[in-house]
Amino acid sequence: MEVKERIDSLIDELVRLQKAYYIDGAPLVSDLEYDALFDELVKLENEHPELVRSDSPTKRVGSDLTSDFPEVEHTIPVLSLDKAYTAEAVLDWMSKSEAKASGNLSFAEEEKIDGISMVLYYEDGYLARAVTRGNGHVGNDVTSNIMTIHSVPLRLPEAINIAVRGEVYLPKADFEKLKDRYPLIANPRNLAAGTVRRQKSSEAAEVPLDIFIYEGFWEEGAAPADHIENLSRLKKLGFRINPHLALFSASREEAQRRLEEAGLEGEGHSFNELGEYLEKVTERRESLPYEIDGMVTKVCEMSVREAFGYTEHHPRWAIAYKFESPQAQTKVVGVTVQVGRTGRITPVAELEAVKLGGSTVRRATLHNQEYIDTLELSIGDTVSVVKRGDVIPAVEEVIEKNEIGNGTFVIPPLCPSCGSVLEKKGAHLFCENRSCPDQILGRISFFTARDQMDMESIGPKAVQLLVENKLVEDIPDLYTCDFDRLVGVKGVGDKTIEQFKSAVKESLNRPFHTVLASLGLPEVGSKGAEILVKGGFDSIDKLLDASRRNDIEAFTRIPQVGEQSALLIINALQDPVMIERIEKLKAAGLQFVEIKEENNEEQIFSDQVWCVTGSFDNFNPRGLAMKEVEKRGGRSVSSITGKTTHLLVGKGGGSKRAQAEKLGVTIVTEEEFLKLLGKENDIKETKMDIQLELF
Ligand code: IVH
Repeated sequence: MEVKERIDSLIDELVRLQKAYYIDGAPLVSDLEYDALFDELVKLENEHPELVRSDSPTKRVGSDLTSDFPEVEHTIPVLSLDKAYTAEAVLDWMSKSEAKASGNLSFAEEEKIDGISMVLYYEDGYLARAVTRGNGHVGNDVTSNIMTIHSVPLRLPEAINIAVRGEVYLPKADFEKLKDRYPLIANPRNLAAGTVRRQKSSEAAEVPLDIFIYEGFWEEGAAPADHIENLSRLKKLGFRINPHLALFSASREEAQRRLEEAGLEGEGHSFNELGEYLEKVTERRESLPYEIDGMVTKVCEMSVREAFGYTEHHPRWAIAYKFESPQAQTKVVGVTVQVGRTGRITPVAELEAVKLGGSTVRRATLHNQEYIDTLELSIGDTVSVVKRGDVIPAVEEVIEKNEIGNGTFVIPPLCPSCGSVLEKKGAHLFCENRSCPDQILGRISFFTARDQMDMESIGPKAVQLLVENKLVEDIPDLYTCDFDRLVGVKGVGDKTIEQFKSAVKESLNRPFHTVLASLGLPEVGSKGAEILVKGGFDSIDKLLDASRRNDIEAFTRIPQVGEQSALLIINALQDPVMIERIEKLKAAGLQFVEIKEENNEEQIFSDQVWCVTGSFDNFNPRGLAMKEVEKRGGRSVSSITGKTTHLLVGKGGGSKRAQAEKLGVTIVTEEEFLKLLGKENDIKETKMDIQLELF
């Protein structure tokens, strides 16, 4: 056989096997057989570079060449979605849509994947470009990185021109596996965003991204009549379509038949089942292998879509039902750069004040440069801000670009506090100067904060006062400085000075695990400190000793401590500045040995892993139930994984219960739990007390 023919046939075969593996989820051959074919292709391509095809599967392993991401114009409008926050609002939108169309419509219900929006352009059947959403008109060409995604076809079975939209995401399980390698990246979405913009595609190839395609834009005359036909044709072209699809139409039977005829997985429903369906989806959200942040409802009929048209920002034929709390829109008036206690640099958007979830928001985090690049955010843009998990608000997306012509914001190269040159570590920039004034403030304020040493009167403002008056330069100075030197300083009364003194004195009573968490060691927050102490590190000397010996194993012996965390802790405890700080704090009389609480409980839960959900009559807050588990040798975790053995369910513990049932986790009610603890009698008594009071 001619070499060219052999290459062609190897590509055909590998593409067929890849599709079976990555799209259909049904491998046809063993890894070994696949690798043999792949290696043969690599060898032939190396020998005959002139015969390398642009759609060869070898292109997916990525390259070490750096690429910047040229801006390219979209040939389709890349819009975002209008949002609703309740199922009622979605139903309302549906009935208004029907009224507007003066007729019956059908609606597709899709998961709103929380990933990175991507447009794939195919020319003559070949993947020509993969482009980020950008501002909707112009995006970045990230083709080399997107080619590493195995479910993105490099060549279609037909030589057509088509653009498709989809969401690139990282499965939760893969994020969990990679988390240690990227300790500063908070969630799968951020790692996916960073990966899409890696300069070397060989590095992008190390993160197993995936994609769901949800819209196709066909050439004139070739467009399908409805969304279901669209998805069906995209599936036949080899694109990966999310099987969690539901079609709502006048009758359930008709909807089911249409999906079946289209060869699509999914559920057919009648309209009145929508509320129930959205409830079900919300329940199963946690157990999905990827993250979703809502549902998308779309009119199926293309003629109606055309008639409804678009606003400047979104189609009128679709609506997103967001699980998150409502967002607010506002304008970015500036970006400031903050230096944290570890030297980490965080860009912060300064906003025109806006009400969000009951409070007024003026600032929102932008995380890092990569995040700004992903948003393509410039000063002057109108953005949506959201409070994720009710903590610090974050800028979520750019709604409208500024008209002044400002480009994407770039963090200046020097530390805004001390002027040192910033250094990049992973996704973040750092100021490496330990004497940087902002770092000093951050370090001391962290130590005194409520969740740490809890020195109520010594908040960030007071710390600033102490530093500015040269009373304090590092944490131990709090214990040796003469607060009376503040007498006469403007705004400082005798009472304040007394409060400072008593706060410092009181802090000497904090237990070792609190002191440990207050030092600000990497990975050692309050939970981390407790884990270390319970794992045998019940004194600072034990920790320092293991660190001095580089004894990683001494840490990883504790089940919750991974190698990456161990290394970070060891590294921090080998730092002479940290060692000196600890020595001084010891001399000041802080507790560096954990005083054991009496625990005579029988270790009935040893080797068990418990998760707790819902609310309880006898354990309020429910952390008290976790304490009971831990006292008896069990481990408590906040989410259900394959390792969880028991789920304690209180009132209203919905989705975790379903997940536990699926994974065969033992479900325990509050009553059963009390029995296990041997406390059932205590409880009967309290119930009787209540009854007595009632009579
Ligand atoms: S449809 C014109 N369907 O959500 C069609 N979008 O907030 C507009 N998304 O930018 C998009 N899953 O990146 C659609 N099943 C889905 C989606 C989806 C996730 C993203 C998409 C869009 C963003 C809008």
